[in-house]
Amino acid sequence: MADLSERLREALAAVESAGTLDELEALRVRLLGRNGEITAQLKALGSLPAEERPTVGKAVNRAKNELGAAIAARRKALSKRRLDAALSEGGIDVSLPGRGVLPGAEHPLSRTIRRVRAILAGAGFAARSGPEIEDEFHNFTALNMPANHPARDMHDTFYLPSGMLLRTHTSPVQVRSMLGEGAPLKVISLGRVFRRDSDQTHTPVFHQVEGLAVEEGLSLANLKSLLHEFAEQFFEREVEVRFRASYFPFTEPSAEMDVRWEGGGWLEILGCGMVHPEVLRFGGVDPERYTGYAFGMGVERMAMLRYGVRDIRRFFDNDIRFLGQFAP
Ligand code: DAH
Repeated sequence: MADLSERLREALAAVESAGTLDELEALRVRLLGRNGEITAQLKALGSLPAEERPTVGKAVNRAKNELGAAIAARRKALSKRRLDAALSEGGIDVSLPGRGVLPGAEHPLSRTIRRVRAILAGAGFAARSGPEIEDEFHNFTALNMPANHPARDMHDTFYLPSGMLLRTHTSPVQVRSMLGEGAPLKVISLGRVFRRDSDQTHTPVFHQVEGLAVEEGLSLANLKSLLHEFAEQFFEREVEVRFRASYFPFTEPSAEMDVRWEGGGWLEILGCGMVHPEVLRFGGVDPERYTGYAFGMGVERMAMLRYGVRDIRRFFDNDIRFLGQFAP
């Protein structure tokens, strides 16, 4: 017992004179660690006669607690000393402005794509995809544009040396879906398309969303109500829409849908129509039994209208000043 209190006094003095946190930690391990001196004494209790155990045990425990408290106090003092030293060295000027963290923002196109998908998924459309490198059959022929059809010229197609091409629209996915899954069918396809075109409202790569529903008894009324509802959800307000007769080789009748804009003007947002019987036939669907409607729109154009962006190229410049405006 006398030995124990002598050792405790020495240990406390050593703790008090530890000059660094590392030194203190080494000391703690030596005294209280798994193989430490005090720990060894506690372990040795077992070999004492039973009547001595309680008294000695109590003393060892008290020494252990006292030492633990002394180490904690010393650690606090040394930490504070280290911080004070760092501060007074002048290494940290707490009055300097922070470097700042710019919040990330979802790209406006990704955001538009996500919203369009969600709205159409809510209307029961499943997502499908097709290849970006297409053949003439799916991109043109099966969409009722045989070789030498004048509409082919309007597509400003990128042809590959192999005779394949970069798809000029997402409409070929209509044909692939019909051939792959048959009718009835309710799908959308959203992806990149390619045209040799570049100015304020055209980029050589852009995105389209294609919609296709094939069912018995589908009519133009179904198409109109779906697209009106879509426009209201997309623009998050009540919108007036109008359908203007138009022409696409793969739909009959064909229309373009306009929405009424602030200031009263009309803005075209998409093309649509009833799927041409010839296209159903190319898709392996019996046009005597089924009818279908289809629609297609440009994602960049929708994003420009929704967010008031004037130049389509902003979406691809990666200018942080532009993108930062879409931070939450
Ligand atoms: N594929 C057309 C284009 O790129 C867009 C389009 C118009 C798609 C009418 C359709 C549709 O599905 O019915 O210009």
